[in-house]
Amino acid sequence: MIKVLRALVLPVAAACAIAASAQNPIKVGEFASLTGKEAAFGQSSHKGTLLAIEELNATGGALGRPFELITEDNQSKQGESATIAKKLISRDKIVALLGEVASGRSLEAAPIAQNARIPMISPSSTNPKVTEMGSYVFRVCFIDPLQGRLLAKFARSTLKAQRVALLTSVSSPYSVGLAKYFKEPFVEGGGEIIIEQKYSENDKDFKAQLTAIKPTKPDAVFVPGYYTEAALICKQARDLGIDVPIFGGDGWEAPQLIEIGGTAVEGTYYTTHYSPESTSAAVQKFVKDFRAKFAGETPDAMSALGYDSAMVLADAIKRAGTTDGPKVRDALAATKNYSGITGSITIDRQRNATKSAVVVTVKDGKFKFVETIAP
Ligand code: PHE
Repeated sequence: MIKVLRALVLPVAAACAIAASAQNPIKVGEFASLTGKEAAFGQSSHKGTLLAIEELNATGGALGRPFELITEDNQSKQGESATIAKKLISRDKIVALLGEVASGRSLEAAPIAQNARIPMISPSSTNPKVTEMGSYVFRVCFIDPLQGRLLAKFARSTLKAQRVALLTSVSSPYSVGLAKYFKEPFVEGGGEIIIEQKYSENDKDFKAQLTAIKPTKPDAVFVPGYYTEAALICKQARDLGIDVPIFGGDGWEAPQLIEIGGTAVEGTYYTTHYSPESTSAAVQKFVKDFRAKFAGETPDAMSALGYDSAMVLADAIKRAGTTDGPKVRDALAATKNYSGITGSITIDRQRNATKSAVVVTVKDGKFKFVETIAP
């Protein structure tokens, strides 16, 4: 009798356990610019993150539980991300927060995550201040002092530029930071910033700044901004007869750079985090899986970093053996040689990752890999 009972009870108990785990997913919050001015960033990053979560769930999730990704759109607007982070933490009870691409918006959410002791991983915000917000804030990408140094090296050795004009978006912490981190090593290496001009996010007309730049006859123009303004700047610069190389950082990475800029962005350069043209087996598998899921679309750097951010989080949760904030934080801080799509990820004492950068150019209306620069 007892035996029969047991036989009956066990499958029921097992079924209950499975049902309970499905009802008890590991909730991960994501905040992203899915619409608005930097929609390309949020969309790309989100797709990569989603692919990672699906792959994780297909292989059993973590701690015997599936992951549930709860995504909120900040519409690329300033002032939305802190509210969203609060909502995800108090309403949805997320155990970790993924986001954002743009440094300015990561900076808004970071103090909320820190105060709640919820680990936050920015996939691709490169401004150093982001992780300085606190011990719970991480990133899986390189930071702008490195990107700026590599850009300075690129300008001097590849572009052979001695005199550079600088055009910075003063309303973007990313742009202000990258301008500074480019300038220091560039000048130290013997280069000269002959003129500095400013603009703000959402500006459309750059003729005044470009008219001031033109008579200074720079060897190249550095535009550390986001793709919408960068594309318009290239267009208006070419219209004004400025025909020297124009270059930028990872903020340029979006198909819209070419869509908006057209032939004016031909021959421009920017640094970014990865290239889908890499022959590494891991990258090629990622590109294939991504294309299969998203109608043939090729994943860009934000997608690859979004994917890596979710995978690094899952890896830390597995090692921590719990979703408890402080323990996951410690496991994240101990991340070493994690083999990501964007390279090997080791979290340093400042909660950043030191990685190589990739230089991309626009040729015949397409992005083309130029070189990898090691840190
Ligand atoms: N690094 C940029 C920032 O911090 C965002 C970005 C990352 C843009 C990767 C494109 C590609 O704001």
